[in-house]
Amino acid sequence: MPKTMIEPFRIKSVEPIRMTTRAERERLLEAARLNVFQLRAEDVLIDWLTDSGTGAMSARQWGAIMEGDESYAGARSFFRLEKVIQDITGMDYFVPTHQGRAAEKVLFTAVCKKGDLVPSNCHFDTTRANLEYVGVQALDCVIAEGLEPATLHPFKGNIDLERVEALLRKEGARIPFGMITVTNNTGGGQPVAMANIRAYAALLKKYGKPLVMDVCRFAENAMFIKMRESGYENTSVRAIAQEMFSYADAATMSAKKDGMVNIGGFIVLRSDEWLDEVRNDLIMMEGFPTYGGMAGRDLEALAVGLEEGLDEDYLRYRLRTAEYLGEKLDAAGVGFVKPTGGHAVYIDAKTVLPDMPVAHYPAWALCNALYLEGGIRGVEVGSMMFGRRLDDGTETFHSMELVRLAFPRRMYTQSHFDYAAEVIADVKQKAASIRGVKITKQPKFLRHFTVQCTWA
Ligand code: F0G
Repeated sequence: MPKTMIEPFRIKSVEPIRMTTRAERERLLEAARLNVFQLRAEDVLIDWLTDSGTGAMSARQWGAIMEGDESYAGARSFFRLEKVIQDITGMDYFVPTHQGRAAEKVLFTAVCKKGDLVPSNCHFDTTRANLEYVGVQALDCVIAEGLEPATLHPFKGNIDLERVEALLRKEGARIPFGMITVTNNTGGGQPVAMANIRAYAALLKKYGKPLVMDVCRFAENAMFIKMRESGYENTSVRAIAQEMFSYADAATMSAKKDGMVNIGGFIVLRSDEWLDEVRNDLIMMEGFPTYGGMAGRDLEALAVGLEEGLDEDYLRYRLRTAEYLGEKLDAAGVGFVKPTGGHAVYIDAKTVLPDMPVAHYPAWALCNALYLEGGIRGVEVGSMMFGRRLDDGTETFHSMELVRLAFPRRMYTQSHFDYAAEVIADVKQKAASIRGVKITKQPKFLRHFTVQCTWA
């Protein structure tokens, strides 16, 4: 067998990307106030801002789009998708929403109350925000290894069961359900082991609490289980996913990830206990229960996408992509969260810019440098995202300075990754000339999206 793992698809429709000159990028970044979120996408060569809703649909999905039934109530497309989701999740009740955060908002509004506490491995930003919005404390309980970038562990997304048990004992009355995010995006796209999901569900059950899974990247998680957890080598990824879901009582999904679509999401429920409340809120926030926040054609594309997202050749290539970039970074002496996760590589900016003070935002500086040197756009996950300006004008800084490069599905080929690896290695060589930034204007919340900067 040849060693090269090829993209398991050929390209039917192409979208040009535009190379800019270094001088142009300097001008564009200055105009964006040194904030890559403020760039126009057409000025970016390789856009690795997110893997969410940015992937390429297949010919089968585009075909299915023409079959969309746009009826307001009882559309055929709803029943087609319902069947696919029931089969994968083993749950009876499917509630469509327009994306993941809407599923969270609808579910939490229906079943949480002020003063509650919800543990998870790590809550994603929108999950945390939606919980906090209804007055719930969102608590991260990932295992210690999950917070150490350089520590190797096959399932760094696992939840700390002892910590959860202590919580259930002490704060049980405040806990409406437990959550777990697969894969753990906030912790580096790291997988959760089947044994951990099973034990977590059993623990919650012992205390009479349901398990709600955040399943945006369930297929990638299932593939990691197949590759890393003993006993699953010969189980199909589909059967692994079905077993993962068998431990849950409900799930929220952003279909923009492993659903292989550009927009969409859903809630699934095992019992009808929460169903009436959920559907009432859905009608107010999203739409009638057979379309939620989605068009009929989007329901069709998702029905196909969920099946394609479970294809093992695709998943093997998908996970290998991140690993491949990781190997190149290793060779260049660039640190990153190890092992590489499913959908992204998280570069440890302190290994590229060791001498830059945190007050100059090294991960932000690295993000800017990747754009200036190679037209690549990533996301800072560091002190710009998580640091805070206090009333006295001083700052708190984040413990890690990471740059996330998240890969849209079926979109970039191996040469794009080779190119990116060269750019990153080149930036490391030039580290002494990379400039940090100072903030000139910032909003009160979520400052990284709109912050304005100047060179430090
Ligand atoms: N849960 C997880 C684990 C996510 O990664 C996301 C989105 C959501 C929920 C919310 O879903 O965007 O459809 O509303 N993550 C994207 C990202 C935005 O870039 O990681 P959504």
